[in-house]
Amino acid sequence: MTHHGLFISFEGIDGAGKSTHINSLAHAFQSAGRIVTLTREPGGTLLAEKLRAMVLGDAMDPLTESLLIFAARRDHVVRVIAPALLRGEVVLCDRFTDATFAYQGAGRGFDLKVLATLERWVQADHGLLSDPSGNHPMAPGIETVIEPHLTIWFDLPPEEAALRLAGARVPDRFESQPVDFFRRVAHGYRERQRSHAERFARIDASRSRDHVWANILKVFIEKGWLQAQEVP
Ligand code: TMP
Repeated sequence: MTHHGLFISFEGIDGAGKSTHINSLAHAFQSAGRIVTLTREPGGTLLAEKLRAMVLGDAMDPLTESLLIFAARRDHVVRVIAPALLRGEVVLCDRFTDATFAYQGAGRGFDLKVLATLERWVQADHGLLSDPSGNHPMAPGIETVIEPHLTIWFDLPPEEAALRLAGARVPDRFESQPVDFFRRVAHGYRERQRSHAERFARIDASRSRDHVWANILKVFIEKGWLQAQEVP
């Protein structure tokens, strides 16, 4: 049976609890016989992981930060995401461009129009998603810009996220930001959901882990991408 590639991203402020659910979804898709590419941003390739270390560790101005993140994204799209989609795989990506609009745009106050331009440049398809026979694995309408089919947004009040993060591992440049920064980031995600409602699924991340997992599964089952009996 041939499968169409599926590109799914996971978003939310730091501390929203994405990781365990992403891993569980990978298992669920594998149990259903799908090949899964599990990846993250910034990162996902050797070059992009180097850029990630700079972005998370070194002080820089918001334009430099945005350019490095989009440079990492281009490498990731070209080398990992587009090829996996062409092979018909399920790509589960921990964060993608919505994070740039939320963190660099809303959080840092960087120009959203510049980010939108970078998004169009960096995610331009330009044949990346067409195999030699002309087949194209993405749904019609998104041939020109590669973007997720579905974005699971873990929505959590910033105050609660701050409590969850307190005492966790040594914070990076983003995790160490004050709660006001995360209020702006959360607002940025809400705005992104409004402008991209067709691909956003909001999950109330303040609920128990089991409840959050059940709600995520519901989204996938309703779309027909997983069957209830296939979930381990
Ligand atoms: P992670 O801890 O979820 O892997 O994410 C790394 C950090 O990078 C997180 O604090 C959010 C931040 N980030 C941005 O600021 N902009 C972006 O475009 C992405 C993908 C992540």
